[in-house]
Amino acid sequence: MLRTRFLGTGFAVPERVVTNQELSQLMDTTDEWIRTRTGIQERRWVTEGETGTELGLQASRKAMDMAGVKPAEIDAILYATSSPDHFAPGNGVYLQRMLGITTIPALDVRAQCSGFIYALSVGDAWIRSGQYRRVLVVGSEIQSTGLELTTAGRHVAVIFADGAGAVVLGATDDGDGGILGFDLHSEGAHAEKLWVDTPGSMYHPRVSSKDIEAGRQYLEMDGREVFRHAVVRMPESVRAVLASTGQSVENISLLLAHQANLRISEMIQKELGLRNDQVYNNIMLYGNTTAATIPIALDECVRAGRVKQGDLVVMTAFGSGFMWGSAAVRW
Ligand SMILES: CC(C)(COP(=O)(O)OP(=O)(O)OC[C@H]1O[C@@H](n2cnc3c(N)ncnc32)[C@H](O)[C@@H]1OP(=O)(O)O)[C@@H](O)C(=O)NCCC(=O)NCCS
Repeated sequence: MLRTRFLGTGFAVPERVVTNQELSQLMDTTDEWIRTRTGIQERRWVTEGETGTELGLQASRKAMDMAGVKPAEIDAILYATSSPDHFAPGNGVYLQRMLGITTIPALDVRAQCSGFIYALSVGDAWIRSGQYRRVLVVGSEIQSTGLELTTAGRHVAVIFADGAGAVVLGATDDGDGGILGFDLHSEGAHAEKLWVDTPGSMYHPRVSSKDIEAGRQYLEMDGREVFRHAVVRMPESVRAVLASTGQSVENISLLLAHQANLRISEMIQKELGLRNDQVYNNIMLYGNTTAATIPIALDECVRAGRVKQGDLVVMTAFGSGFMWGSAAVRW
């Protein structure tokens, strides 16, 4: 039976470090407020000219190097982002062009903070069905250009950041290793609780100067509601993916939870009864990079030797949509 294995991982973040102190000069906030409520100490934001696809390219190159796979050996690209370089086409085709791979399929996945988990599930299905053998999956995001950098936008602006992570998936038919399964959900009833209103094709025109003056192009969030759902949905989903794959919470070697807010990650850890050595958080240094948080954390853990062959790695995400889900992997 064909299974999907991780052959390589990589990540890239912009060089520019933005501290809490720097944000406190743009809006009425403090380092203390941001650290206490979110755990974030600093984050990376692009400077003009840097793009999400370029970060995706850097992360992909690192993942392909680790995998020992050349661009020409990639059969398909899955690109998870909610902040593409352009309204259309998606980032996947730009990455394909930069990698110099001529006509392989390149599909963008729009599932916001859960984008990487959803993209992984598509890649896994392609591989297990025998359609493709090597799939590049990227989660990348440029949130900094869509934030309202004033006191009115401070509850969102201090959280979100830029970055990219990538993995190379490959087919294997030996042993029990590989992706074991997924648990995926969405609940559109909450669509406007974390969203970007414009540009949107329902408006004539899609974006107007009036919209821009009203700030409707900014990421908007009902933080309390997002928090309330996130701390329930992620543990619930972790339990569901473990149950459906015949695993239990005690067997988790490493839980990589979407880095939305350190307080959320700590509540998930507590709810699942996990020890500190069973979880990994890096939101302190990178902020919330939406679809990129999980592949960035995964790469850091792989390179630090925190993921060993045979380990049970569980990834879980929750975000805009609402959409959420988990993946269980035998490394
Ligand atoms: C955003 C979040 C940190 C706000 O924390 P909170 O405790 O819910 O705070 P509230 O929104 O209730 O605001 C409390 C007060 O802090 C203020 N505040 C909000 N952001 C602030 C900031 N950056 N600096 C200083 N004060 C701030 C509010 O205006 C409010 O003031 P008031 O009491 O005078 O009205 C929190 O709701 C959260 O983390 N939610 C989840 C966000 C998330 O994970 N999003 C991504 C999901 S993928």
